[in-house]
Amino acid sequence: MIVITAPTGQIGGRLLDILLNEAPERGEELRVIVRDPGKLPDAVRDHVDVVTGSHGDAEVVDRAFAGADAVFWLAPPHPRAPSLEAAYSGFTRPAAKAFTVHGVGHVVGVSALGRGTPAAGRAGHVTASLAMDDLIAGTGVAYRALACPSFMDNLLRQAASIRDDGVFTDTAAADRAAPTATTADIAAAAAGLLLDRSWTGTGEVPVLGPEDLSANDMARIMSEVLGRPVRYQRQSLEDLRAALTGRGVGDAIVQGYVDMMRSKDEGIDAGVRRTPRTASPTTFRQWCEEVLRPAVRA
Ligand SMILES: NC(=O)c1ccc[n+]([C@@H]2O[C@H](COP(=O)([O-])OP(=O)(O)OC[C@H]3O[C@@H](n4cnc5c(N)ncnc54)[C@H](OP(=O)(O)O)[C@@H]3O)[C@@H](O)[C@H]2O)c1
Repeated sequence: MIVITAPTGQIGGRLLDILLNEAPERGEELRVIVRDPGKLPDAVRDHVDVVTGSHGDAEVVDRAFAGADAVFWLAPPHPRAPSLEAAYSGFTRPAAKAFTVHGVGHVVGVSALGRGTPAAGRAGHVTASLAMDDLIAGTGVAYRALACPSFMDNLLRQAASIRDDGVFTDTAAADRAAPTATTADIAAAAAGLLLDRSWTGTGEVPVLGPEDLSANDMARIMSEVLGRPVRYQRQSLEDLRAALTGRGVGDAIVQGYVDMMRSKDEGIDAGVRRTPRTASPTTFRQWCEEVLRPAVRA
């Protein structure tokens, strides 16, 4: 039995699609933990066991992990959390206890690139994600942290500004090249690990995408795919802080984003070498064609 958290999210939803296709022929049962089962497509609800509630809740994970062999773990965005520790390790603590109580064998979690780099201890959300990995690894389960760069899919939040103004923003220097991966590829990496559980111990599985790209590279590719100019506008960290605060994000989480984006501009995502094992397949151009262009045209 594989338990999937956050099945209505970008990664969790894609993971569920893959597992619904592949798990039955391996005799593998699926269970999801979902706050609102009504958000699951009808076809999905009929083929998975549903535990209703938040996977941050001790009573919920206690029910959900009974009989589980493997768990997909994702700490959800928590914009009003009092601290990053609360948002990641605090949210994960009930599950970490339940992994041990129920003898869960394997856990695959969504985390971030950066371990072992100079900025790892002061990188906001990245630092908190790495601490969450340590918490899970400390339970004794076999654990793989998917070490992710920024998601290409983050750009979907800017679909309106790309469409209406031909502009996208970020805080990185325009010519700093960095890895970026799709949530679909991250889900595929998770599915591979959850279905073939021959691995033991703890470690990271980087999901780096096929190439490093700068914001200027992305602007060029978006312009070519969308057939009209798209330019990059660099935002200062203070403007980022003001924008997040204006959207109601709490101070601790805003500070986490600022620290993380500063560390990204210092190269925290550049610590892992791309190899056939760490590269994921989808190019930015392909993602723009298949995901961004339909979203911008919608
Ligand atoms: N964005 C990046 O560039 C990046 C890079 C590296 C790592 N990450 C990590 O990736 C994760 C986000 O992944 P994602 O984009 O796939 O997530 P997402 O699409 O934002 O989905 C969030 C999921 O969490 C659920 N959720 C929200 N609040 C919850 C709560 N309080 N209790 C239980 N469930 C809750 C949502 O369910 P509902 O339908 O109930 O709301 C949804 O299923 C984060 O851990 C982040 O640190 C992100």
